[in-house]
Amino acid sequence: MTSIFVDGNPYRFYASATNEKSFLEQKVISQYYAGSLPIKLGDKNKRVLDLGSGTGANTWWLREVFPDHTIIALEPSIGQIDQVDFLDYKIYNSSFEEFDQKNFEFILCSHVLQYINTNPKKFIQKIYDSLVPGGEAWIIQQTQYGLNEIIQQVKPHLKNNLFDDWLLFNDYALLVDNLKLPYETDIMHTSIQGIDYKNPTNAQKKILKFILGGIPYKNLPSEARDALGKLPIQKRIYHPNGIIKIKRPENDSRIISNNI
Ligand SMILES: C[S@@+](CC[C@H](N)C(=O)[O-])C[C@H]1O[C@@H](n2cnc3c(N)ncnc32)[C@H](O)[C@@H]1O
Repeated sequence: MTSIFVDGNPYRFYASATNEKSFLEQKVISQYYAGSLPIKLGDKNKRVLDLGSGTGANTWWLREVFPDHTIIALEPSIGQIDQVDFLDYKIYNSSFEEFDQKNFEFILCSHVLQYINTNPKKFIQKIYDSLVPGGEAWIIQQTQYGLNEIIQQVKPHLKNNLFDDWLLFNDYALLVDNLKLPYETDIMHTSIQGIDYKNPTNAQKKILKFILGGIPYKNLPSEARDALGKLPIQKRIYHPNGIIKIKRPENDSRIISNNI
């Protein structure tokens, strides 16, 4: 886990500014009502895992969409858990690598893979192994557009190594492909308010702080600020996000070792 999540505030602020969380909620709801999720209308007591839940930006709506089911949030950082608003929240303070529960019908793993410090292929295999036969996991990752363009612009001038092995949606889809897991992909056309890169407002500085790995705007090297200033200003920043939907077949009831 990287230090950026020790304090829950930067991510919480970013998550409330993007429309991504509500787009994701709409995707899940529409597939649920279309009958194309493993959890069907009228089902009860199925198991849902919000893997790397952070401050619960997705957990709260998962609980509203699936009130008759068990929603488990898994989050290793106390700094994130401390920022959660609701009290009756079933949360496990653990990394996924150390987590030993399985048999989930639905696993949401949203913007987690780029922050883990273990082998992503083994992590993805463990996600698959944690599904019931017939279960489904959605892995959400940034594409090369939008926020990643900000990172790439600034990266050569940063002194930390947070973005050295920064992978994107396509890279993770390739890993899933290499693992020979059954999957489909989808895209969400999500966006966040534009940023005046030369003279960001305080709110925009907070968004930039999260995007740029937790470095406060005032601490950015001047070359990094100059590089930011070259980016075109738009009213909204479109940052399409990819969904990798891993679907465990009904007839795959193998029990596979979960060691990472
Ligand atoms: C960018 S936040 C995403 C929060 C939430 N899923 C969302 O999409 O809004 C990434 C979260 O992954 C968590 N995380 C990092 N490594 C993890 C691991 N090995 N197992 C579980 N969670 C992890 C971090 O602590 C952080 O809260």
